[in-house]
Amino acid sequence: MFKINDNYLKLPGSYLFSNIAGKVAAYQEAHPDRELIRLGIGDVTQPLAPRIIETLHEAVDEMGHADTFKGYAPDLGYEFLRNAIARQDYQERGCRIQADEIFISDGAKCDSGNIQEIFSVDNRIAVCDPVYPVYVDTNVMAGRAGTYDPGTETWSDVIYMPCTAENGFIPDFPTEVPDIIYLCIPNNPTGTTLTRSQLQDWVDYANNVGAVIIYDAAYEAYITEENVPHSIYECKGAETCAIELRSFSKNAGFTGTRLGFTVVPKALKCGEVTLHSLWARRHGTKYNGAPYIIQKAGFACYSDEGRAQIKDQVAYYMRNARTIKEGLGAAGFEVYGGVNAPYIWLKTPNRMSSWDFFDYLLDKVGIVGTPGSGFGPSGEGYFRLTAFGSYENTLKAMERFKNI
Ligand SMILES: Cc1ncc(COP(=O)(O)O)c(C=O)c1O
Repeated sequence: MFKINDNYLKLPGSYLFSNIAGKVAAYQEAHPDRELIRLGIGDVTQPLAPRIIETLHEAVDEMGHADTFKGYAPDLGYEFLRNAIARQDYQERGCRIQADEIFISDGAKCDSGNIQEIFSVDNRIAVCDPVYPVYVDTNVMAGRAGTYDPGTETWSDVIYMPCTAENGFIPDFPTEVPDIIYLCIPNNPTGTTLTRSQLQDWVDYANNVGAVIIYDAAYEAYITEENVPHSIYECKGAETCAIELRSFSKNAGFTGTRLGFTVVPKALKCGEVTLHSLWARRHGTKYNGAPYIIQKAGFACYSDEGRAQIKDQVAYYMRNARTIKEGLGAAGFEVYGGVNAPYIWLKTPNRMSSWDFFDYLLDKVGIVGTPGSGFGPSGEGYFRLTAFGSYENTLKAMERFKNI
């Protein structure tokens, strides 16, 4: 008789955003005339930039001719894309990353979930609390998280690093030594970030204790401040302790198109074994590549025209972020984030729980946000709004906030 991976049975409830979608659908069914403003899920709303659309059309045409048709992509991804990434995202910022240290994928969610496979199941992971839920849930599935305590909403074998207003949402080094440290910078959900020297401290810490940092930089394009690094490889010594994940979802609107990449430097080793060789083996065995058409579209993001167009889109969302931050601040809310990230993290009023505030906002003003407690116990009492809506809806939402 077959057996299942019963680690899956340990996972409490359904995925956060499925929960929210269920609640919103039930509310909409009961109130069909109510116009809801959705500032919950971190999905983009602007269409793909014109340069990307033109490139997609060109690439589709190429697939229709025998002399330009493409079959399976190379294991690591097309060289034209990896070269552009290595040059523009890394070398121009002083990082020594080479094109053959870049693995093209269909997004950072898969990569952040899959990367744990190359590590022993005995490794202890450390996560920020609150945290992007994928890091913890995928380690639960792998059997690395121990047992779940519904009282504290924590896993016995996971090291939590609370990020609250008290520590400025900057995690302290954990008291127990982790093997794998997940850092998401700029942060989802708090919208906060680390300065270059704060990140350097983490790199030094990881190198000292022999840990690996899984550095999720999906929101890198939203950085506006000079002293915030765009890549962990801007820090000295990061090549020996860090894997970086990137996505085309938030900078270029590829949430539905799907494209991302992971950087595994060849200097990152466990004894004599490079993590690069393990990830290459995994990639080659289990993955057959992001489609050529999509990799071409990703390449368009590195052209002068494409770069300018996607920069405008990010600026559009950041205007929303400013609008929300200022609007909520004026309405008397305690607000964080929104300067280097498309997320605004607010303290719920009157010590309301995160889910009570979710229900209150939905019912009172028809705004959908994300309860902070869904991202971890230290998110309780907080709430996340995203800047990914339209400007018009963002303004409308701020008008509605005045009425609560
Ligand atoms: C921190 C973080 N990493 C990764 C992702 C997913 O990225 P992708 O669309 O490339 O899978 C998200 C999406 O919300 C995210 O917030």
